[in-house]
Amino acid sequence: MAANPYETRKLLDEYLLFHYGSPEEILPHAFGPVGALGFPVRSVTETLDVSESRGSALDLGCATGRSAFELSRSCDDVLGIDFSAAFIDAAQRIGSGEPVPYDRLEEGHLRTPLVARLPDGTRPERVRFETGDALQLPDALGPFDLVHAANLLCRLSEPQRLLARLPDLVRPGGTLVLATPCTWLADFTPPANWPRGATLDWLREHLEPAFALERTRDLPFLIRETARKFQWSVSLASVWRRTDHPGFRPTASPS
Ligand SMILES: C[S@@+](CC[C@H](N)C(=O)[O-])C[C@H]1O[C@@H](n2cnc3c(N)ncnc32)[C@H](O)[C@@H]1O
Repeated sequence: MAANPYETRKLLDEYLLFHYGSPEEILPHAFGPVGALGFPVRSVTETLDVSESRGSALDLGCATGRSAFELSRSCDDVLGIDFSAAFIDAAQRIGSGEPVPYDRLEEGHLRTPLVARLPDGTRPERVRFETGDALQLPDALGPFDLVHAANLLCRLSEPQRLLARLPDLVRPGGTLVLATPCTWLADFTPPANWPRGATLDWLREHLEPAFALERTRDLPFLIRETARKFQWSVSLASVWRRTDHPGFRPTASPS
């Protein structure tokens, strides 16, 4: 398995721009895919009824924290967990009101200094961030009213282990939002742990009957690498309701 790319300055800069950059800072081309901007906000607002107040929320694989801050608008208590110490450090600094400087790569040696700031109207006093491994969460964690995990599953070595833990992490009646672009890569997940068929079918196999699928939604997103190179992807978001079925699986099995 390759070294963790999410600890590098390159990806920290890319994620600070992805999470906190304005549309103009990210995409300087009017003909570009503007509908793919704002993913860390849309993975909350386009999957949940944000007019509904919720108690506790967990944002798993929160990276530099934007979705956790968005969740704080409607949730009383938000915990963001990510494996990357560099990402969590940046999220904590932003939450404490500190402007966090970063560089946007234009091309080659050319960079533009920018600053990431807490989004207006968010409630940082409701948000905590911790480094942690989604595959080794503490036994005492949860349950939460809402678990949100965007673009995390296909970055895990054993995603089935997280799926097996989810019934335990979401309170009966609570909501689970999973989003994944289904980009299964051997650098992150051994092929033996990829779904054999379609990712949504595999999610159903692992999550039902402890969860009932409520809806799915395609969420495009755009990550800028340089002024002229972008990753345009489409995440498959699925929203699940935790049933009162016990659904607890003590051991995770490969699909
Ligand atoms: C593709 S990024 C998505 C980040 C964010 N949710 C978003 O939508 O922008 C995947 C994130 O998962 C984190 N991650 C990878 N493996 C993890 C693990 N085992 N436990 C917790 N976080 C992990 C990475 O550090 C990275 O921040």
